Amino acid sequence: MLFVDISAFAFAVNRTFGLFEKHERLYKMRRTLIALQLGKRLNLKENELKKIFLQSMLANEDKQFWQSQNKIYPSQLIEIMFLASNVAGFLRGRNVCIFTKEKIKDFFLHQYLKVFTKTPAVLALFTLMEEEAFWFNLEEEFLFLDILRLTMGWNEFSGLAEEEMKKVFLLLAKLIDNKDISTRRHSERVAKIAVKISKELKLPFEKIKMIEIAGLLHDIGKIAIPTKILNKPSKLSEKEFLLIKSHPFYTYKLFETVGGLNEAAKWAGYHHERLDGSGYPFKIKGEGLELETRIIQVADILAALTEDRSYRKCMEKEQVVNIISLEVKNKKIDPDIAKIALKLLSAKEIL
Ligand SMILES: [Fe+2]
Ligand SMILES: [Fe+2]
Repeated sequence: MLFVDISAFAFAVNRTFGLFEKHERLYKMRRTLIALQLGKRLNLKENELKKIFLQSMLANEDKQFWQSQNKIYPSQLIEIMFLASNVAGFLRGRNVCIFTKEKIKDFFLHQYLKVFTKTPAVLALFTLMEEEAFWFNLEEEFLFLDILRLTMGWNEFSGLAEEEMKKVFLLLAKLIDNKDISTRRHSERVAKIAVKISKELKLPFEKIKMIEIAGLLHDIGKIAIPTKILNKPSKLSEKEFLLIKSHPFYTYKLFETVGGLNEAAKWAGYHHERLDGSGYPFKIKGEGLELETRIIQVADILAALTEDRSYRKCMEKEQVVNIISLEVKNKKIDPDIAKIALKLLSAKEIL
């Protein structure tokens, strides 16, 4: 069984997202509280509320992204998210929320209902909007506590079913990769390669599951970094590069604070460390890097070399072999794991 404290997880991701972009964090928290209240009014089951909670705390506002969620989320959940996103959108950059009430009501009455029908979710929103308390609750200081209150019963590692949880991690991996345009499927590939290496090493099943999560989320710290820096086409300045280098640190912090994921903090957060101590950001050497960490490191390198990047095409097999062999020679990565990785590459197991 996979136990992850989803409430702590979502807050940690939300915090990381908002590290350098505070208004985004506030927007997502408002959206979450609105969506949860709507869900409660509509008597949704706890499992559905959990999905709403995760989705609104984590997702970004990409239209394609929403469309791609159709298979995972039933239409009423998507509708709730959509309504909540609209209200929270109007409140961006505002602090006395109730002052915007009439403008928002106007939008729903005269624009929204011209296109969409008056469903139970829309009716529930109209009722909510008439309550002054609803608006007062959306002020910054109250948000955190109120969301916590609504989600508190979920903290005892009850989590979502394992399959659902995996979907959430996969979604998040896509979000990370979408943020950095040069790495479309990177996280998913790192996870797959890491799992294959782990199977070759005959690691126990439960361990492999956690390695897969560490692989999927190893770059999650990138969500803290402003998109324009991640995707800058020209050379990075020294300061910008320092910011990029912070991503494994934030990955580490995020894993460390979430019950059920903390075991994997080192595996995911140390993926840019090197055995000779030349990596970043902790400068950990050989002994301090566990087998699981070494697996993620090699999987990350192999995945990166076999992917197209905005500044180069994916490398030829020979070139990949040369680079990985040189890393082994320079005592930067684990030789046994590198050997397995190269074996998988030869067997065309890396797609
Ligand atoms: Fe990374
Ligand atoms: Fe990576």
